[in-house]
Amino acid sequence: MTYTKNSTPARYEFGANWASFVDRHYSAERRQAAADKLLAFLGKESLEGMDFLDIGSGSGLHSLAAFDAKAGRIHSFDFDPLSVSTTSKLRQLAGEPANWTVERGDVLDGGYLEKLGTWSLVYSWGVLHHTGAMWQAVENAARRVAPGGLFFVALYSSNVVRPSAEFWLDVKRRYNAANSSQRRWMECWYIWRFGLGGNPFRLPGLLKQIYEKKKGRGMSYMTDVRDWLGGWPMEFADDRAVVDFLMDRFEFELVRMSTGEACTEFLFQSPKAALSKQD
Ligand SMILES: C[S@@+](CC[C@H](N)C(=O)[O-])C[C@H]1O[C@@H](n2cnc3c(N)ncnc32)[C@H](O)[C@@H]1O
Repeated sequence: MTYTKNSTPARYEFGANWASFVDRHYSAERRQAAADKLLAFLGKESLEGMDFLDIGSGSGLHSLAAFDAKAGRIHSFDFDPLSVSTTSKLRQLAGEPANWTVERGDVLDGGYLEKLGTWSLVYSWGVLHHTGAMWQAVENAARRVAPGGLFFVALYSSNVVRPSAEFWLDVKRRYNAANSSQRRWMECWYIWRFGLGGNPFRLPGLLKQIYEKKKGRGMSYMTDVRDWLGGWPMEFADDRAVVDFLMDRFEFELVRMSTGEACTEFLFQSPKAALSKQD
């Protein structure tokens, strides 16, 4: 492995992982699970009357879920061209609806984001901590929320990470510097150590976890293992700091929060009147 402790890897190939997820694992069952999970967290029966901005769409499964949930206007963008083409593939599967657009875009590009206007539901799940400038990305995403609109954001939490954030940052640097067979070994190491806890009798627990991942957001265990080992750039956010940031800077109200998993999910609502602390 060419890795040295201080070397900084390039960006992880998220899009290739998402393309492989859709090729190998896409199913009507996962599509339904993604829509169910989206609506459950939002506490809604449907997205009728809402529009949906998907920042860092990845596979596009959650944009598709928003489409299935009857969102009005949908716009999905991602930095990685392969994520964009994979999202487009799922849009094709939905019959290329005119109300759903997909393109390449960067959440750190303020000019691009401004052109998108504001949205009644801004969704960014597992993205903003992978930009290299997480707080700027959170701010840029929050600015796209229309008055009275919702912001559903999920960020890797520094409150639950074990053994430590530094441990995982080091693993990720190694994974990104590794060739494909070294990566397969690291994936096996991860499953053995963290999936099974070094104990083969914990296999039933791991199988339950795999099933729950599919039932949860329609995701696949191995896709998520690769995304977790590779996901770079990478930052961790303190849950309280996220809430304080969005409350203090944007006067957002925290509607719901789900902690305990690697990513903490937050649902915020922006004030109905125009934001008072824009700058
Ligand atoms: C872990 S994936 C999450 C995908 C999807 N939101 C989901 O929940 O399945 C992170 C995605 O964020 C994208 N991403 C990273 N940096 C970005 C940026 N600056 N602007 C837009 N997308 C970005 C990556 O290309 C990748 O597809």
